[in-house]
Amino acid sequence: MALTNGGAATPTPTTPASGGGGGNLVLILDYGSQYTHLITRRIRQLSVLSLCISGTAPLSAITALAPKAIILSGGPHSVHLPSAPTFPDGFLSYVQENDVHVLGICYGMQLLVQKLGGAVDVGEKQEYGKMEIEVQKESALYGADEVGGHQTVWMSHGDEAVKLPAGFEVVARSTQRAIAGIEDRKRCFYGLQYHPEVTHSTKGMETLRRFLFDVCGLSADWKMQDVLEEEIKTINSMVGPNDHVICALSGGVDSTVAATLVHKAIGDRLHCVFVDNGLLRYKERERVMSTCESDLHLPVTCIDASEQFLTALKGVEDPEKKRKIIGREFIAVFDDFARNLEKQLGKRPEFLVQGTLYPDVIESCPPPGSGRTHSHTIKSHHNVGGLPKDMKLKLIEPLKLLFKDEVRKLGSILNVPESFLKRHPFPGPGLAVRVIGDVTKGDALDTLRQADEIFVQAIKDAGLYDKIWQAFAVFPSVESVGVQGDQRTHAWLVALRAITSEDGMTADWYYFDHKFLIDVSTKITNSVRGVNRVVLDITSKPPATVEWE
Ligand code: XMP
Repeated sequence: MALTNGGAATPTPTTPASGGGGGNLVLILDYGSQYTHLITRRIRQLSVLSLCISGTAPLSAITALAPKAIILSGGPHSVHLPSAPTFPDGFLSYVQENDVHVLGICYGMQLLVQKLGGAVDVGEKQEYGKMEIEVQKESALYGADEVGGHQTVWMSHGDEAVKLPAGFEVVARSTQRAIAGIEDRKRCFYGLQYHPEVTHSTKGMETLRRFLFDVCGLSADWKMQDVLEEEIKTINSMVGPNDHVICALSGGVDSTVAATLVHKAIGDRLHCVFVDNGLLRYKERERVMSTCESDLHLPVTCIDASEQFLTALKGVEDPEKKRKIIGREFIAVFDDFARNLEKQLGKRPEFLVQGTLYPDVIESCPPPGSGRTHSHTIKSHHNVGGLPKDMKLKLIEPLKLLFKDEVRKLGSILNVPESFLKRHPFPGPGLAVRVIGDVTKGDALDTLRQADEIFVQAIKDAGLYDKIWQAFAVFPSVESVGVQGDQRTHAWLVALRAITSEDGMTADWYYFDHKFLIDVSTKITNSVRGVNRVVLDITSKPPATVEWE
């Protein structure tokens, strides 16, 4: 199944080029559980393609994908509320007529029970957290060896099924006697009151494996090599033999992998631009350009626009204004690049490559009642301003249905160096959000670059780089009193921040040992001119954010 489509990112994946799910797709209908994406991930870990769309998507969106199995996710709702989200009219007939297997998880199971004529009620004892279930009988979801045994599972529900629809049987109960697993094998309906996708459910992966392979008869054929080949075919079918494609490389993993993939498909009709905005890390420009040239052989034009950016940022203190200026200048530089290219080629580039990932696509459209807000505002805040609207470029988003670790795998197949794929994230506005206030004052940027390099290199030398999600230095623009070489000094403070995180949405600060911190602090104050004090940021997110601005 191909992953590319030419339109802008939409929350519902468009019909894949090969038409439908090719008989091997698991579709997740999202009812707002915090674990929904985890279900998608777990299934992909079992080498089966799974996609996630809103639980209230129209029937046509489901039938277009022709899934072999559908999982109804959990969610924070009660099926009794009039506003409770549900699958579309015609869903139950569609799945039965097409032999689609349906597994409801938590809220998804309650929805299935209620819609098929059973009853759901507020449970006598609510079950949250780690619980035990007992497998009652050999069934589609549990093997003979599991019968009578106990399993630890992760529960999170207030309501429970109290009367099953005709044709269903109970196959597992919680030790509190609540119904925990049900199935109607004849009609291909299954339900789990707990979350098999959460690692606390010790046998959850086995249950999912059994469901996918033994029950639904899916095959484990979701392989990155196939994804790569399909993608290349799709890009070639979109981009005509004389069409040209442009790509703004940020030096991050996503845009680099996306560009490398498109380059493999269309060769030097891809034109990348890397903009040095004067806000990059120590030797960043040299590092990115050398990886692109020597390792990836990507056609990249490097534009040194640092003067232009820093002039525009002179005297600007407000973080949001800084972000807007950076976005505006970026558009101007990119626009110039595209115009020059048009002159050189004698025709306008038609396409633009973007490294959009699957979480960006799904998070742009949270399911009803999930409590998550439309995240476009967050993204545009995080975005460096987008691209000129009047350019009317068609988008190529080859990573649009992949998660970050899948992009890394794809990058690895494309021979993007491992050290590059594992780089910590770096914000679009660069060091501008790490120098508090005016970035152009004194040697702020240079001082920050040197301190940051010492800190990050020390982390690499200690073998900690891959354990940490993001590590960097901050220049809070604060001077303090010190004593250096018998002299009283009044010099800059540098803060160090290192965090662990799954996705950057929440984070913990990383706990270094004392010796490491002493060495880094000493090295910074001894070798970075103008710094006499180093502090460590020991705040998680929330309440703080990762970046200081
Ligand atoms: P925060 O500071 O919001 O950061 O907790 C979460 C993640 O996003 C990155 N970040 C940004 N990325 N433009 C970006 O492209 C931005 O303006 C921006 N602000 C934060 C941050 O580095 C972290 O990985």
